[in-house]
Amino acid sequence: MKKRILTGDRPTGHLHLGHYVGSLKSRVELQNDYDEFIIVADVQALTTHFNNPELINDSIYQVTMDNLAVGLDPEKVVIFQQSMVPSIHVLTMYYSMLVTVNQLQHNPTIKTEAKNYGYTEMTYGFLGYPVSQAADITFCNADLVPVGEDQIPHIEFARKIVRKFNDHYGTSIKEPEYKLSQVSRLCGLDGNAKMGKSMGNAIYLSDGPDVLWEKVRNAVTDTNRIKVAIPGNPDVCTVYQYHKAFNPEGVPEICAGCTGATMGCVACKKKLAEKMNAILEPIREKRHYYEEHKNVVRDILMAGTEKANKIGNENLREIEEKMHLHV
Ligand code: TRP
Repeated sequence: MKKRILTGDRPTGHLHLGHYVGSLKSRVELQNDYDEFIIVADVQALTTHFNNPELINDSIYQVTMDNLAVGLDPEKVVIFQQSMVPSIHVLTMYYSMLVTVNQLQHNPTIKTEAKNYGYTEMTYGFLGYPVSQAADITFCNADLVPVGEDQIPHIEFARKIVRKFNDHYGTSIKEPEYKLSQVSRLCGLDGNAKMGKSMGNAIYLSDGPDVLWEKVRNAVTDTNRIKVAIPGNPDVCTVYQYHKAFNPEGVPEICAGCTGATMGCVACKKKLAEKMNAILEPIREKRHYYEEHKNVVRDILMAGTEKANKIGNENLREIEEKMHLHV
């Protein structure tokens, strides 16, 4: 029996190269060896974007298309819409009895995100999203969650809830493990620590070659290198970080050209754009097909949602029986 993986994204925009390098690429590699579930976490998107339902609606399609375009095979993976799986929301409610408000207020990821969003007060839904995420992972008894550094507290938290829950009710919900992504985070084109859809510093999987070039052309390099003749310092250059991710075999040449003052920044950026386009071209092509066939995207999402519901409902029935909720 294959182990089950659960992973996914909040639909609050298109996915970008940071997502590709950090998670989408490995999702594709894992789909043959694991039973893979991909959640389109629209309820979680509401925790921060409740006032923008149109964006979430469109993003459900965008995120699903991004996942399909990178090569996830709907015959192998289950892509599903969170809001349409009631067992997740019921389980969230049951879990919430075992979680204190104080515990959530001390969650480091919640704290960082609240600060980034400028929240002076948190809604019940936002504060509680780690509980909901624990249900996302465990409603189908997932074994493994691939994560970046910032999601680790959520998995630890999910494990804690599950342990407590199983102790109380004699259920046998699986304690999920995390699988830390090997890739370091891609920085923003502006040199900011993180590529983010909210920060205007991202290259999207849906960007065409012209848009890509505009973005790469404007990316921040070593600001001291105002002309080619001045040797650059690759370690402080955003574009060099990108070469490491998208052009690993070319890194020695780029490094030598920069530090030896023989290659200018524009030439260096052209090489990068070329490499990125080579990776993105087949993705764009697939994505284009889905953009033209929105009904296919919808059918895939609904078929996945049906599978998730079947598994979730069965598990929930067992859980409720152990909780003595059946009369
Ligand atoms: N928190 C993830 C994000 O911000 C999305 C997500 C929701 C998720 N539920 C999940 C990821 C369960 C892994 C497992 O993109």
